[in-house]
Amino acid sequence: MDFELQRRRKEHLSGGGKEKFEGRKKKGKLNAFERINLIFDSGKFTEIDSFVTHECVDFNMDKKKILGDGVVTGYGNIDDRLMYIFSHDFTAFGGSLGLAFSRKICKIMDLALKQGAPIIGVNDSGGARIQEGVESLAGYANIFHRNVKASGVVPQISLIMGPCAGGAVYSPALTDFIIMTKGAFMFVTGPEVVKEVTNENVTFEQLGGSVIHNEKSGVAHFLAEDEQDCFKILRMLLSFLPSNNLENPPKIESNDDPYRKVSELDSILPSSSNIPYDMEDIIRKIVDNAFFLEIQKHWARNIIIGFARLDGNPIGIVANNPDTLAGVLDIDACDKATRFVRFCDCFNIPIVSLVDVPGFLPGTDQEWKGIIRHGSKLLFAFSEATVPRFTVITRKAYGGAYCVMNSKHIGSDYNFAWPNAEIAVMGAEGACNIIWKKELRDSSNPDIKRSELVEKYKIKFSNPYIAASKGYIDEVIEPNETRFRLISGFNSIYRKREDRPKRKHGNIPV
Ligand code: HXC
Repeated sequence: MDFELQRRRKEHLSGGGKEKFEGRKKKGKLNAFERINLIFDSGKFTEIDSFVTHECVDFNMDKKKILGDGVVTGYGNIDDRLMYIFSHDFTAFGGSLGLAFSRKICKIMDLALKQGAPIIGVNDSGGARIQEGVESLAGYANIFHRNVKASGVVPQISLIMGPCAGGAVYSPALTDFIIMTKGAFMFVTGPEVVKEVTNENVTFEQLGGSVIHNEKSGVAHFLAEDEQDCFKILRMLLSFLPSNNLENPPKIESNDDPYRKVSELDSILPSSSNIPYDMEDIIRKIVDNAFFLEIQKHWARNIIIGFARLDGNPIGIVANNPDTLAGVLDIDACDKATRFVRFCDCFNIPIVSLVDVPGFLPGTDQEWKGIIRHGSKLLFAFSEATVPRFTVITRKAYGGAYCVMNSKHIGSDYNFAWPNAEIAVMGAEGACNIIWKKELRDSSNPDIKRSELVEKYKIKFSNPYIAASKGYIDEVIEPNETRFRLISGFNSIYRKREDRPKRKHGNIPV
């Protein structure tokens, strides 16, 4: 045993000191090592760079060195799969980031990229280490650059478990998923600066708390009740993801019959097409064992995204939700779905779209904020995706939203419609008012005339058979057949290979 090595190891484990550790305990917060031990399979974490220290000499910093410099880095196994990790140690300089600290993170990001393993970041930091000046800004930018290089190559997941302020927010924002624990916060400028600049009084929570980022801003993807819940969500999420873009997502043995008829679906739609229903009920009835990991479930509820499995294979689901705003597409819904479609496409996860959409949300608010730009990004994302793609129209598919929601025309592989589906340029009432304006105006009884014309329009256009007669819908199916049809479709196209013209990259409207 080397005593000097043992002494240094002990010193490293004591981080910023006993007092700081006890302070955290009193607040009910775990420390960096405890978090890592709970994230990885028991005993499966290996640390590197535990003796790194900063080289700053300003502000007496040369007299304040902490082994490890405030971040724990290394690799380990989760459910027997290799992952790389960094975990901020708030006890050391408030987890603030200096150059040496950032080099440790960059090192494990480089290793993860070479190996093709996911990167997990546990964030709990006061931001740029003020004493290090531009060195800490350089450190952040070096990390951002790697986040971008790793994007679409290995999954990157950020856990926000404490403060995440200033430039520190951009690395998590560049990663694929953010899981925020209650009590944590993220903002570009803190309450004091806000007060100074805008004279607004806000608390940390009101400005950038976990509820705000899950409900209002859409920055976070999951809201964890506490630290344990955060690790549980992380494991669940990882179970759907491949380790890198060259692998397929992990298939598991399914004990749910792939041929199972879902008879409840035959009567699940309300009696009138204007009555809302919750699309999540349909999703859970179709997928294996009703298990659905919803993402961003508190934000833009008019669209639902998340992971599930069909016959053991992970799929990404993008579904309009008539329960909120009639399932209309608005700016937030388009943004939410776009990023998810692109994630699934990066990591070879087939996409299933469940469609019940009356169109795009009308009005000056949406037009002025650029619904055209945001709607077209969803169109772009679906069009560009080369993973196996499936669509089921459960009820309405109107206008531009029909095209956007993974239609045959933009490259979907199998498109199904339930018998009552309405595929039309617009709803019957609105359409009749336009195309039979003169007849309605001249009619002695416009109300009776309108209902006759609406009926005529519905028989002619609001059904799936015209689209099916042209091959735009591959098959009209009974609702109870949906699960089997999707699985059978998947089995016939899982080896899909589709090329795009060679180019540097497309120019998605952002
Ligand atoms: C250096 C820092 C620090 C920082 C905290 N500390 N933030 N040291 N640089 N950015 C130190 C404190 O001095 C203290 O040291 C210890 O960490 C714990 O901090 P406390 O304030 O005592 O803890 P707490 O009360 O829990 O408050 C935590 C906090 C607060 C809310 C995070 O520290 C805070 O507001 N920090 C600044 C946050 C911020 O504005 N960051 C943005 C920086 S600018 P001692 O020795 O007393 O224990 C930025 C731009 C980068 O990030 C742009 C890159 C692109």
